[in-house]
Amino acid sequence: MSDVDAQKRAAGEAAAQLVEDGMVVGLGTGSTAAWFVRALAARGLNLTCVATSQATADLATSLGLTVAELGETRPIDLTVDGADEIGPGLALIKGGGAALLREKLVWEASHRSVVIADAAKQVAVLGKFPLPIEVVAFGHKTTALRICDVLSEFEIAMMPRLRVTDGAPVRTDGGNLIYDAACGAIVEPAALAAALKSLTGVVEHGLFLDLADQALIGTANGVTTLEP
Ligand code: 5RP
Repeated sequence: MSDVDAQKRAAGEAAAQLVEDGMVVGLGTGSTAAWFVRALAARGLNLTCVATSQATADLATSLGLTVAELGETRPIDLTVDGADEIGPGLALIKGGGAALLREKLVWEASHRSVVIADAAKQVAVLGKFPLPIEVVAFGHKTTALRICDVLSEFEIAMMPRLRVTDGAPVRTDGGNLIYDAACGAIVEPAALAAALKSLTGVVEHGLFLDLADQALIGTANGVTTLEP
């Protein structure tokens, strides 16, 4: 196992220890969240889980966890999920796994959300990782131009790129498309988030601001806890 994977695993296993019997638990998406799901299943607690993607729902079900739809359980006690970048104040970029919409829906429905990651995810300024933006398929090229205009208002000069895998546009679980905006540095994340959200055709963006209550970061020297 690589050092990065070991850090992801340590963070996921530490987060699994936060879960108590009887909880409703939000399950994140991605390789770090998968370590959490595996460690959680191994604890054998009586839980109801809400998954942030079909991939995570499939993994959780295969491990014997009970998975319910968002809104069909009592409120979520704790959600644990990965991130692509963790900035100051636990501002995050998420969506590298194209699950940002369901992730944000689950995070916002949770009493407490904990982000887990390897040490390389921690940054001084958000934006090196291209910001994922989920858009409806209809008219998506027009929407991308409007996103470009918004970015230029923030002195970010770049055209967002449609995410493609194996020659075909990536479709989210909701059937939407993803554009990735290589911003470089996002100096005003809250203002950019609001401007992107105001665009017709944009479903959601990967800026998760004021949502994480705690971060568990796997490092070469163990798991570090951060608060906003
Ligand atoms: C999925 C996400 C993931 O949490 C993020 O991409 C981190 O993934 P990984 O744990 O594999 O590094 O936001 O949409």
